[in-house]
Parts: sequence; C-alpha cells; structure tokens
Amino acid sequence: MTASNAKLSVDGNDIELKVRSGSIGPDVIDIASLYKQTGTFTYDPGFTSTASCESQITYIDGDKGILLHRGYPIDQLAEHGDFLEVCYLLLYGELPTKTEKADFDYRVTRHTMLHEQMSRFFTGFRRDAHPMAIMCGVVGALSAFYHDSTDITDPYQRMVASLRMIAKMPTIAAMAYKYHVGQPFVYPKNDLDYASNFLRMCFAVPCEEYEINPVLARAMDRIFILHADHEQNASTSTVRLAGSSGANPFACIAAGIACLWGPAHGGANEAALNMLSEIGSVDRIPEFIGRAKDHNDPFRLMGFGHRVYKNYDPRAKIMQKTTHEVLGELGIKDDPLLEVAIELERIALTDEYFIEKKLYPNIDFYSGITLKALGFPTTMFTVLFALARTVGWIAQWKEMIEDPNQRIGRPRQLYTGEEERDYVPLSSRG
Ligand code: SDX
Repeated sequence: MTASNAKLSVDGNDIELKVRSGSIGPDVIDIASLYKQTGTFTYDPGFTSTASCESQITYIDGDKGILLHRGYPIDQLAEHGDFLEVCYLLLYGELPTKTEKADFDYRVTRHTMLHEQMSRFFTGFRRDAHPMAIMCGVVGALSAFYHDSTDITDPYQRMVASLRMIAKMPTIAAMAYKYHVGQPFVYPKNDLDYASNFLRMCFAVPCEEYEINPVLARAMDRIFILHADHEQNASTSTVRLAGSSGANPFACIAAGIACLWGPAHGGANEAALNMLSEIGSVDRIPEFIGRAKDHNDPFRLMGFGHRVYKNYDPRAKIMQKTTHEVLGELGIKDDPLLEVAIELERIALTDEYFIEKKLYPNIDFYSGITLKALGFPTTMFTVLFALARTVGWIAQWKEMIEDPNQRIGRPRQLYTGEEERDYVPLSSRG
C-alpha cells in the first residue's frame, strides 16, 4: 500500500504524519504518534472520520451504494451463493471449493446441538422476556459450557469456537422463540440445510411434521446473507473492543448482541415495523414525515438513513425483492404494511429534507415486513439479525486476534469536568 505524509501544525509545533492507502477507499492518516509528538488527542465521538482498524473482510462505498465481502458484490453473493458459503468466505477469505464447502457444511451441521444442560437456562426467564434479553444471557453462558474453546491463543480452539457460534445461534434463537410462545423445543436435524433447519426448529410442533417451503427457506437464507457482515458498525466495533482485552469469543459475541439490540442499530427492523403499524394507512404518512423533520420531535423514520450509505443501501434493494417473493409465495396480496412502506419510500425519496440529508431506506426498512410474513413476531426480528451477524462478528474478531500488532483498545477523552479540589467534610457542607 502506498504511503505519503500529512503536515500538521499544533501551537507552532510542525509535525508530519504518515498517510496510508488501502487497496480501495479513503486514505488514512496514521495518528498513533500524535499524542507523543504534540501532547494532543484527536476528537471524534461518533467515529465519523476514524478508521479503528485495518481489515480485509468487507468494503462499503456509501456514496456509490457498494458492499463487497472479500471483494465479491453482495448482490452476486445473495443471488448465487448460500449463507454457509458466505460464512466460509468471510472467515477464510476465498470462496470454498466443492470439497471445502461440503466439509464446512458437515462440520457446522454437527455443532448445531446445544449442551442439554443449557435448555434449563431458559426456564429462568419469564415467558414474556424479550428474546434479545434471552440471547444476551444464553450466548454469554456458552463460555460456562464450552471450556475447551475459550483459549483464544489456540488456533484450534478459535476455529472450534467459531464453528460452534455459527452452528448454535439458530438453535438458541429458535429455543428463545419456542420458550416465548410456550411450545416445546425442537432439535436440529442434520439432513436439513442451515435455513431450513432454523425454520423447522422455529415452526415445527410435535403434533405434525413441518413441511419446508423451498421458496421461504431460500428467502430466509438470503436474509442471513444480507445481514452477515458490514465493516466496523457499532456491534462489530463492540466485539472487537471486547476481544482486544482477551475475553473469550462467547463473551465477545454476547457483547455484540447487546449493542445490536439498540433501535439505532439492529433494533431498527423491529422499530421500523412498529412504525409502519403506527402509521397504519397511507393518508397518515404526511403527519409522520412532518414529525421526522421536526427537530423538537424525537421521532425518526426507522429503517431510513445510515452513517455510511448516503445512497441506497444495496441490501435494501435485494431485501425489497425478497419481500415481494415471500408475499407472492404466501399469496399475501395488498399487505397494508407493504402499501404504507412503498408509499412512504416514494414520498421520502422525493422530499427535499430527505434528499438533502441523503436519507435512503436501509436494510431494516423492508426486512420487518418479510419476517412478519414468514411468521416471526416483531420481537424476534433483531434476534434473526444477531443470528446472521454472528459470522461477521466472529470473522472480524478472528482477524483482530490474528493481527500480530493487536493491542487492547483504550481510547482517551476530552475532559471538561472539575479541576482538582479538596474534600469538604459532611459537617461543613450545607
Ligand atoms: C443498521 O453501521 C452499520 O453498518 C449499521 C447496519 C449494519 O448492517 O450493521 O447497516 C445496520 O444499524 C442500519 C441503520 C438502522 N437504524 C435506523 O434505521 C434508525 C433510523 N436511522 C437513524 O437513527 C440514523 O440515520 C442512523 C443512526 C442510522 C445514522 O445516524 P447518523 O449517521 O449519526 O446520522 P445523524 O443522526 O447525524 O443524522 C444526520 C441528519 C440529522 O439531521 P441534522 O441534525 O443534521 O439536522 O439526518 C437526520 C438527523 O436528524 N436523520 C433522520 C433520520 N436519520 C437521520 N431524520 C429522520 N429520520 C431518520 N431516520
């Protein structure tokens, strides 16, 4: 990668900082020596201009609406690949050969069962607990059951932990759903593909066999692909920071799940569907558009806007197509939520405010309609996001752990609090 220099003058102290170029995308100014040279920090609370790491996994061009995983465009992967193939690509950097794919599928499939003792874990939760609360707790508890894959210095244990996370998340997610609806847990079946296995664990009941609909299973698999990884988003940065202290991978993924839960991030799919339901009909859209523009109103159009995409989120386009496929297969015509979503998108994309602020639908705008049609309650939407994003978190964590220059992440601050002052005894206070 090429390098050049940037000149900076701080209180008359002129310094030079190295500028590094990646393979594609913006250059970076290496400021690691800034504090040593000038005694000053940089300040960027939302990390809007900060590259936190070097990575080779995912590239996003927000202005052009481009998303690449190890160089492959998301639309090609979603069209031609399957989720476990994308998992292999994210983890190892190349598309698998036929033999590698068969071996990877075999190994993941045989890690889908959960330690039987863990099923008792669920009974400690209230039935109406939010499934994301259950996911945070149960995934964090995996490190209490799988001691043989928590030593991050051992490449073999890292590989086993990675496979276990990818394989067990569908089982845990399905168990969270079954516990929520009061139905018995359904065990995975090794003769089913990843998405079909998950749908069956969610929707099969002991009273009758669950018939896999290949169109819906393909749509579920594609939804997992669309959510697999997304550069240094908030939850991935959380996993990297947790992992930088040497915490075990299960604890790091639990931290990522907690961060993803927020409505500004992975919780937006649940919030977007609740918003569409609240709007209810096309004639109420102007009222909500007005609220979204009103700075005194905290309301935002959920599923719109993105820190990086200042153009259409390429995943949203594929998601919209999948929505129509699923609704068509299920014979759902004139879905009122879809009608509101399409009209809301049309109005927002022609409205000066949204155009000027470059607010486009993101992946969360259409995913909720699709997941609802597939039979999931809104409280499960972010769980499905976490299920799919686990491979991205694991791939980014693995890349960080294997980086010989990796150090614990420890940002500094701009302190604006009280200067030093002496303690005042209680007897002397008012
Ligand atoms: C995901 O980072 C990732 O990659 C995330 C993700 C992934 O795959 O990991 O892509 C998944 O999290 C997608 C985003 C899901 N969130 C939502 O849909 C929630 C609604 N969107 C917003 O909360 C917001 O757009 C964010 C959080 C997504 C981005 O926030 P930013 O980059 O901090 O932008 P901002 O809040 O500074 O907004 C810029 C301006 C503001 O107006 P001004 O103060 O400049 O006048 O745009 C306005 C905002 O008020 N704005 C919106 C809006 N989003 C931003 N106004 C109305 N509705 C919105 N949705």
